[in-house]
Amino acid sequence: MTRQLPPDWVRISAIMGEEYKQSIYSELDPRWGELSSTHDPYLLGHFKPRKTDVLITTAPKAGTTWMQQILYQLKTGGDPHFSSIFEVVPWLEFPRQNKSPQQVLDEYEVISGPRVFKTHCTYPQTPGVDTARIVLSSRDPRDCCVSFYHHRMSMTDAAQVIHGAKAPESFDAFFEDWMAYAAWYRNVASWWPHINDENVLWLRYEDMVNDLAISINRLLTFLQWRITDAQRNNVIEYCSFGWMKSHSDKFIAKLDNGDPVFKPGGFIRKGQVGDHKKLLSKEQEQRIIGKAQELLPQDCLRFLGLG
Ligand code: A3P
Repeated sequence: MTRQLPPDWVRISAIMGEEYKQSIYSELDPRWGELSSTHDPYLLGHFKPRKTDVLITTAPKAGTTWMQQILYQLKTGGDPHFSSIFEVVPWLEFPRQNKSPQQVLDEYEVISGPRVFKTHCTYPQTPGVDTARIVLSSRDPRDCCVSFYHHRMSMTDAAQVIHGAKAPESFDAFFEDWMAYAAWYRNVASWWPHINDENVLWLRYEDMVNDLAISINRLLTFLQWRITDAQRNNVIEYCSFGWMKSHSDKFIAKLDNGDPVFKPGGFIRKGQVGDHKKLLSKEQEQRIIGKAQELLPQDCLRFLGLG
């Protein structure tokens, strides 16, 4: 299979080195995907999944960080003192600029179990689909699109430069890029056939907003983890939007120099269902739904509330 070099190739090779690109592409199965500033196929191809691992897989902006916090809090029985969610629940395939991929993999080996990771990988790209437990969070694509726009707009100038990006010139320009990039569609379409797999639990962001306690019960049953009632109350508090907003420094990725990637208030932003109504035109909404109807089966659309 011939590989298509990603458009941001020059920047990535500057970060990762030409030699690195050549070595991973000659060695790795193409199933692990293309190297980019957020996706290192080497980490996926060499990760050693365990039965006790939990992999959170989501389309961007579908409540990934919230699920990282929920699972970390359930694992610890409630710990408000961690400094960064990305240290305790790492982003599996994310390339680090200040560490070699082997160093990153070595660090994964010594995380205390059950290990929890975040990933945005599709089903075929996810290591451990037959081994680990998989927790999905999905969210209305209209809200994901609008949330992603704010994500891009609230990145600091330094973060934009490092990620080789520019803040979108307008919402309309961003919308076209979001539709063409199609990460939401790829993620949902690839996982849908596995919704009933024994090791898969699929939760909806909208249900979690509506009643987090119910989703927490479902997670505990699925993972067979136990916590006390007092611990459960703490978990619910630490996973509330208000708590996460007032401790947002713990949930914001940092550049290598320690500076936050996002401006204040930009990442743990609003946490609302239906926020897209303020930005999407009727026509844009129709295009998002229309593409979902084209690409996803009826039962999936019904499950997502789009049918
Ligand atoms: P908004 O931009 O709509 O506010 P991800 O982590 O996948 O990037 O998703 C980010 C979205 O999840 C943001 O949505 C953020 O505010 C929301 N979020 C984070 N913590 C939340 C919580 N405790 N309750 C509800 N939404 C939350």
